[in-house]
Amino acid sequence: MTALARCLSLATVATLLAGALAAQEAPRLTGPTPFTRETPAPPMQRQLTDDVRRKRNYPDQPPLIPHAIEGYALDLNANKCLSCHARKFTEQSQAPMISVTHYQDRDGNTLGGVSPRRYSCLSCHVPQTGAAPLVPNTFTDMDALVEREPRGR
Ligand code: HEC
Ligand code: HEC
Repeated sequence: MTALARCLSLATVATLLAGALAAQEAPRLTGPTPFTRETPAPPMQRQLTDDVRRKRNYPDQPPLIPHAIEGYALDLNANKCLSCHARKFTEQSQAPMISVTHYQDRDGNTLGGVSPRRYSCLSCHVPQTGAAPLVPNTFTDMDALVEREPRGR
């Protein structure tokens, strides 16, 4: 075996080992074995509905919904969300208005009403639950990243 080949095979073994270790530590995201076995559904996680607006992780994150939305109609004929968040209703509802991006079509034209691509609120905005993450999350807020940079550069 040449030195290069030995180096390569060592690297392969190391990668495989690391993979095996990671696989062991990761929580199971799949169902039971065998997959035909029936297990009770895990309980639904409780949604956080304390009306406290959550910080966004980055400026253009769709903000999380901080209130209950159970039973709110969202279909072709009715959009309960807009009955509070549309511009004309925010005075009586005191809800934050959908921002200007919700009035823009894909060509950047600002329309008079909500853009069809922003009609289905729940494809972007979701409630937050108190569930623990299934896998560790190493996300770092960008403010923390900026603070770590030495000053005066
Ligand atoms: C009865 C009025 C009402 C309805 C209906 C309603 N909201 Fe809200 N929403 C509010 C108010 C008021 C707030 C401000 C925070 C609070 O009081 O909960 C809010 C906050 C939010 C926020 C957080 C905004 C931010 O900047 O953090 C989002 C996102 C949101 N609502 C989405 C929705 C969606 C999606 C629906 C429909 C499924 C909906 N809302 C239906 C009144 C409403
Ligand atoms: C395609 C994704 C998408 C859809 C659909 C969508 N939003 Fe948003 N929304 C966003 C993003 C991204 C932001 C944050 C950036 C911005 O304001 O455009 C946002 C911001 C908001 C805010 C905060 C506005 C502010 O100025 O603080 C509210 C309230 C909101 N959305 C409500 C709604 C409601 C109600 C609907 C349904 C009628 C809806 N959104 C549909 C992506 C979406």
